[in-house]
Amino acid sequence: MDLLNKHLVLGLTGGIACYKSAQLTRLLTQAGATVQVVMTDAATQFITPVTMQALSGRPVYTSQWDARMSNNMAHIDLSRAADAIIIAPTSADFIAKLVHGLADDLLSTLAIGRTCPLLVAPAMNQQMWQNPATQRNLAQLHADKILVLGPDAGSQACGETGAGRMLEPTAILDAIMAFFQPKLLAGKRVLITAGPTYEPIDPVRGLTNRSSGKMGFAVARAAAHSGAQVRLIAGPTPLATPAGVIRDDVQTAQQMCDAVMAEIAETDIFIAVAAVSDWRVDQVSMEKIKKNGEAIAPRFTFVENPDILRLVAHLPKPPFCVGFAAESEELEKHGQEKRLRKNVPLLVGNLGPKAFGYDDNEVTLFDATGATPLPRMDKQALARTLIAEIAQRLTVKD
Ligand code: CTP
Repeated sequence: MDLLNKHLVLGLTGGIACYKSAQLTRLLTQAGATVQVVMTDAATQFITPVTMQALSGRPVYTSQWDARMSNNMAHIDLSRAADAIIIAPTSADFIAKLVHGLADDLLSTLAIGRTCPLLVAPAMNQQMWQNPATQRNLAQLHADKILVLGPDAGSQACGETGAGRMLEPTAILDAIMAFFQPKLLAGKRVLITAGPTYEPIDPVRGLTNRSSGKMGFAVARAAAHSGAQVRLIAGPTPLATPAGVIRDDVQTAQQMCDAVMAEIAETDIFIAVAAVSDWRVDQVSMEKIKKNGEAIAPRFTFVENPDILRLVAHLPKPPFCVGFAAESEELEKHGQEKRLRKNVPLLVGNLGPKAFGYDDNEVTLFDATGATPLPRMDKQALARTLIAEIAQRLTVKD
């Protein structure tokens, strides 16, 4: 419930991307926000107020002369109650209206009379987007501190291809969540490892583990939302890259180590969430290992992989290092012991089988002052809590 207690005005202007605003409304309400939909006349040509009312659970406003507002001041009252106004889609025409301060319908009047932040998600044909007038207007939106989300590039409803597609609803939701997060790590460079590693045995087989990468990706997203520059070194996982995060994909522990070391001098905070394989097969077979017909199992010798976190934490000038540890028993004992062995100021411990693959997690924080158990929460909420814990420790250190 990232948007719990947030009251949002969602404005729709005319464009085929209005169909995406139906899903956006659903996502916003599922995230805990109350959504007051306001539509321009043109928007009602693309999607009906009835649909938007059903999804938002509130009456939709389309006119500044709406008698349902007892004082007939919809243009003032709706914006005063809002934490933010989001206009998605925002047409080229409406952008021009915002730039010039026109106020000839309810939504434009709300926008000019607002006391809360305004976020716009443009949506238009790629030629309209490229037009010098639109680009001039865009520069003015930035200058007026209006947050512009997108647009995306790609195939368009008109059959053309280029920039101008409205961001997907999930991306708009993510940007709105990011907008409301305190910028605890503004300007910090954060490097994160996530997911499993994969150590090949032969061209088609290898050793890996059950890490899904969800925790590491949640931490990357939370760090980006808190204003950090985030680089994610990910083992094999199908998860989508969080918005604003730079991602390097790797397979093996050694590749993960090399990718980390290439970035570490430019890093303020290193968070090792990856479940790194401690061992790799010494001689990887160049060909698929076949059954030999004599029921004799193949034998492998293993060599140890570098311990990435330990290497980083023992550098002469290490970044602030955070480790994760999945234990199968005696978390208290192993957690503190591992924190000291790895030489990290903060270690996040959990009982592995309770975390891998799930959407929530229950962890204990280990630092120099002892062990602090946190309540069970979903991984995104936990990631935000961890970012706050890290930011607080950095402030103390500075
Ligand atoms: N880690 C790492 N490189 C490795 C192994 C672990 O960077 N080769 C990091 C993990 O990302 C995690 C922390 O070290 O942040 C602890 O991982 P864990 O596997 O629990 O530690 P190990 O040192 O492998 O300890 P154990 O003997 O319990 O396996």
